Amino acid sequence: MSDSYSLLILPGDGIGPEVMAEVVKVVDWFKANRGLPLEVQHDLVGGSAYDVHGVPLSDATMELAQSVDAVLLGAVGGPKYDVLDFSVKPERGLLRLRKEMDLFANLRPAQCFDALADFSSLKRDVVAGLDILIVRELTSGVYFGEPRGIHADDNSDNEGGRVGINTQRYTSGEIRRVARSAFELARKRGNRVCSMEKANVMEAGILWREEVQWVHDNEYPDVELSHMYADNGAMQLVRNPKQFDVIVTDNLFGDILSDAAAMLTGSLGMLPSASLGAPMANGRPKAMYEPVHGSAPDIAGQGKANPIACILSFAMALRYSFAEVEAATALERAVEKVLADGARTADLMGAEGGTPVSTSQMGDLIVAALSEGV
Ligand code: IPM
Ligand code: MG
Repeated sequence: MSDSYSLLILPGDGIGPEVMAEVVKVVDWFKANRGLPLEVQHDLVGGSAYDVHGVPLSDATMELAQSVDAVLLGAVGGPKYDVLDFSVKPERGLLRLRKEMDLFANLRPAQCFDALADFSSLKRDVVAGLDILIVRELTSGVYFGEPRGIHADDNSDNEGGRVGINTQRYTSGEIRRVARSAFELARKRGNRVCSMEKANVMEAGILWREEVQWVHDNEYPDVELSHMYADNGAMQLVRNPKQFDVIVTDNLFGDILSDAAAMLTGSLGMLPSASLGAPMANGRPKAMYEPVHGSAPDIAGQGKANPIACILSFAMALRYSFAEVEAATALERAVEKVLADGARTADLMGAEGGTPVSTSQMGDLIVAALSEGV
């Protein structure tokens, strides 16, 4: 095992660079004050990479990402790039990283901070204390399935004459490996997994249900498993989210359900994620960490963005990639303390008030809370 860790920072587009600047303050604090042996490199992804290289992820950056212990990504995309060909859109850079690093298990925790429970669009008692984890399959399904494309369709009844095709495709092996991740994680939490698909209309959903059940029966009989259709799951998430512990679902349903779960907590600006692959030679998983929120071009460059999701994504890197559990906990506590003290970026300014702070003030306050050792 090497005695230092390598982290590749890819700030990306929109608010990505400004939230990442706050993470860098946190990283520097841990290096200076806790002797964290972290080697940091910076590179480009998304539109910012396209501007320089003509592609949203260069081969050199891809190679670098494959070689480090962890990647931390800000966000990609923006209106400036909407006109680009699909193959070089900023999102393709992100999808290439996920696919080529084979980051099949995307962990999206939705935790409701006590200080923000009134900020959720749901009633306080429905969300207070919420702590669920969505495990989204990230490298297959309709995002990557073949055939895909937009083609001419000469069927004479077809007004417009075109057809758009995507394919929902899952192998049993792809389902089993992400199911294992979910069961492993559940064992360290509430020991319950709810699997979501549309087995009532999709064969891929039937296979999903059968394979998750197989992994359960053969390898994790101690974990409580339930199945739910994804549409019912969406409804249950807003009706009574605390009934869940770990939710495991496919790429597309996971994309949608995790946005819904995120909003339960009051703000998309709060939620981190980890995308994990198979273990590397050092025993730790290939990993990329990113906030759940997007590049928010409408507020970019104005000091309004909330850096907490990105900072908590770094906390997940400390926990899952660097085995620095104490540092991760200290950072999470510092965030909680700053929120409990009332600091609020623009996205968190609700009826109950608080002290408005900018992106960089929020970062400074979190670093100060770390120094106080809360
Ligand atoms: C996400 C995003 C991405 C996705 C986009 C930016 C490609 O919505 O990470 O949830 O759809 O996976
Ligand atoms: Mg999404």
